[in-house]
Amino acid sequence: MQNKIDLIGLKGIPIIKPGDNISKIILEALKFNNIVLEDGDIIIIAQTIISKSNGRIKNLKNITPSKKAIEMHNTITPLAKSVGIPVKTPELIQVILEESKEILKTEHVLITETNHGFVCANAGIDQSNVEGEYNITLLPKNPDHDANKIRQTLKKKTKKNVAIIISDSFGRPFRVGAVGVALGISGINAILDKRGSKDLFGHELQSTIVAQADNLASAAQLIMGECDEGLPVVLIRGYKFNYQENTSIKSIIREKSSDIFRKNKIDILSEILKNRRSYKLKFDFRDVDTKIIENCIELARWAPSAHNGQFWRFVILEKGVIRTHLIENMNIKLRQDLESDGKSDEFIQKKIEKTRENFLEAPILTLLCLDTANLEKYSDPERSNNEYTLGIQSISASATYFLLALHTMQLAACWYCAPLFSRDIVKETLHLPNSYEPMAFFTVGYPIKKIEAPARKKLNDFIFKLNNMG
Ligand SMILES: Cc1cc2nc3c(=O)[nH]c(=O)nc-3n(C[C@H](O)[C@H](O)[C@H](O)COP(=O)(O)O)c2cc1C
Repeated sequence: MQNKIDLIGLKGIPIIKPGDNISKIILEALKFNNIVLEDGDIIIIAQTIISKSNGRIKNLKNITPSKKAIEMHNTITPLAKSVGIPVKTPELIQVILEESKEILKTEHVLITETNHGFVCANAGIDQSNVEGEYNITLLPKNPDHDANKIRQTLKKKTKKNVAIIISDSFGRPFRVGAVGVALGISGINAILDKRGSKDLFGHELQSTIVAQADNLASAAQLIMGECDEGLPVVLIRGYKFNYQENTSIKSIIREKSSDIFRKNKIDILSEILKNRRSYKLKFDFRDVDTKIIENCIELARWAPSAHNGQFWRFVILEKGVIRTHLIENMNIKLRQDLESDGKSDEFIQKKIEKTRENFLEAPILTLLCLDTANLEKYSDPERSNNEYTLGIQSISASATYFLLALHTMQLAACWYCAPLFSRDIVKETLHLPNSYEPMAFFTVGYPIKKIEAPARKKLNDFIFKLNNMG
């Protein structure tokens, strides 16, 4: 039984330049460190030096971002700022797009499936450990091939059967911190299938598969470090494994069909639709970047509208005198309305306070108006009335899109009908164009608490079934 493994970081590896011969550099470093290779040794090589030697370096100054890259930059910039990480330029996003098969998540980072099939942040592109302010390193194009080439050369020169692992460090979902992963392998299998072997108590293991190459890469990572340690090659001695000629990292990549974390579209949509809530509580003290609101309005624009009239107009009201002035003016009208309803002074005061709390304390208040300018004009009042209704129906669709977009951006919001009851006051106070009709407010901010969903009626209560039997 094996109870000891040695890890040795090779000193003396120079700064790698495009065209450098990594096998030769490793052989020289082994000599420099007085190490003679043995059968069964494993050499872990940091991806950066392979990428650099292969010339997988790009200068962001030479990249022209596509429209998609610019749009993604606009989407993720406020998210990156909100978590305090550096903003990705459209040029960097462009390279990430080129290096990826699929963008899986667009958050403050981009989680992508690289052209090789690795799922990681920003297509594994690195801005650290590369000289030049605008230079970045890309992952090697074919790390298995690179590992195999180095193994073959070392075998030829030393007559020893060693394994090679090209490693990188990836962040993980669910846990903080990066761990080492294998990108390319040669001479060793990526996984160690323990299914069928017995545990301490004689039970047969049903599902244990050990990520052997990743574990070795992670162990080596402890010596390599991420910063200025300058030890990109680590020798592992004493780990027993089955030496194998034809191996590939592909065996560790989970099939899409068995990847339960790649949710299908209907699951994602269902989650968004069912978890959006009308948030009527206090918001977190954090400000909301108006850029995020604009991004959500951008999505709201895609709502259906009658004869594609796109009658919605949004007004973003940040905290400040205009908003206060507006709410106080609306409150004068509210008081008059409630007084004419015969409500008590105490009741009215409470309502007014609630209105202030709702609309003045929300980090952002958005007003939705119907722009009547584009509604079809009819001489017949009934048809005009219908046209007006479909204008309202259309802006309601955009309001729904807007709320869903906000929810997806982790923002809480609530739709309030208050402006409907003081349309003229809102119009006058905000100096809105004559054709605008104020219809709704949306309070927006970061939530403090999770809200339970109000009960929904049963599906059958909403479907009127026709009796086709006559
Ligand atoms: C047209 C419309 C107007 C609304 N007006 C108000 C309002 O004035 N005050 C309020 O507290 N909620 C208002 N709401 C929010 C509803 O109370 C809320 O959507 C409903 O209770 C269902 O809760 P949920 O959105 O969390 O699923 C409004 C919703 C809509 C669609």
